[in-house]
Amino acid sequence: MEYQHASEMKDYEGKEVSVRGWIYRKRESGGIIFIILRDSSGTIQISIKKDSVSPETWSDAEKSTIESSIEAFGTLKKDSRSPTGYEITGKSMKLVSLSEPFPITEYQSTELLLDNRHLWLRSRKMTEIMKVRSHIFRYTREMLDKQGFYEITPPIITASGGETGADMFELDYYGKKAYLTESSQLYSESMIYSLEKVYSFVPSFRAEKSRTIKHLAEYWHLEPEMAYYDLGMNMELQENLVSYIAQHVVDNDEESLKELGIDKEVLKIVKPPFKRVTYEKALEILNDKGKDLKWGDDFGVEEERLLTEDEDKPIFITYWPKELKPFYMPVNPKDERTVLCADMQAPHGNGEIIGASQRIYKYDELMERFGQVEKAKGVKFNMDNYKWYIDLARYGSVPHAGFGMGMERVIKWMMGLDHIRDAIPYPRMMNRNYP
Ligand code: 4AD
Ligand code: MG
Repeated sequence: MEYQHASEMKDYEGKEVSVRGWIYRKRESGGIIFIILRDSSGTIQISIKKDSVSPETWSDAEKSTIESSIEAFGTLKKDSRSPTGYEITGKSMKLVSLSEPFPITEYQSTELLLDNRHLWLRSRKMTEIMKVRSHIFRYTREMLDKQGFYEITPPIITASGGETGADMFELDYYGKKAYLTESSQLYSESMIYSLEKVYSFVPSFRAEKSRTIKHLAEYWHLEPEMAYYDLGMNMELQENLVSYIAQHVVDNDEESLKELGIDKEVLKIVKPPFKRVTYEKALEILNDKGKDLKWGDDFGVEEERLLTEDEDKPIFITYWPKELKPFYMPVNPKDERTVLCADMQAPHGNGEIIGASQRIYKYDELMERFGQVEKAKGVKFNMDNYKWYIDLARYGSVPHAGFGMGMERVIKWMMGLDHIRDAIPYPRMMNRNYP
């Protein structure tokens, strides 16, 4: 038996079709049952007329409830009265599995929807987001693969504590402490010495204590690392990647954008070059807008919003104070107060989507930076944990650079979502790890 999808109906006018899926809407009127069937591609209306079908079909149609799974067979006609533009005049219908009363109805609280996430994933909105998410993952790999990158697979369980300063989830590893990785960067770096251009694409874990609309405890983290790249080449790669993703969404995901109410022009303009603004200049802009910030202050949600509220494309904030950044970032030879790094901010206050830098590759410089960070942050690194990483600078290191992009941040921005939780099927947040 061959089945057609709802999206294929235009090719089947006047012909017989078989469809299968789930009941999205149902009503009865004058001996006819109207069913709107949902499948992965969209929706299609089916009419079942009591006089024209077998008693078994009629009984199944009458019995079936919202979200029941069914199969139907009939003739397709164009019908402007049908909300789906076409209608199948049903010849037969079979109930595959009867649904109990569905716990989600029209208007529901966010909490109820999150408790029933496994069922809410069937909603039109989540369906379209998940399609675009899948495509964005594909475009990301596609773009990097075309440029000669190798995808590598780093460990998720690590012995060492943080490198970015984020809080980590601790676990018991055969009686010893271990952690869920907060970044695969150091492992990505270790593999450029054989493969030159690599990326890891796995989850990172952050035991964030803040509940915000852009923080997840588990998020998908793309971390490319490139031998012989400097900061400028690194930024060019990033703007090309982000624009590759945006343009492919515009070209291939038109239906999903429509369903989500996204104006594709908003993404069409996301093309290089992206503006470069130094941290110093950003401070000035913020202070002109009424803030009272001084050198060394970090930016929060409000600062990010003020910096990008009038931007239509992402911008880079470059050359941050060295006190604010990790040990692997080299000091800027042109301004020793700063390091060779850049963060990419999505437009309209959507927040940081990429963190990037050149990497220190000289042993002495690396050891000096470890010391600087210890002093600036008042921390003590357990150097036993970093021995392997320091080795990389001892055995034929080369200049290199890399970045980390949070996939759900990108999806949240591009799909115009209110909250990052809808960019991932099963969000892990401070107060939630079920279902
Ligand atoms: O800025 P971060 O902490 O940088 C790093 O982890 C570097 N090791 C990356 C690298 O150079 N390889 O994180 C990178 C990105 C952020 O820009 C943001 O997009 C995302 O990861 N991110 C989060 N996304 C969702 N929820 C969270 N709690 C996130 N924390 C960071
Ligand atoms: Mg960052």
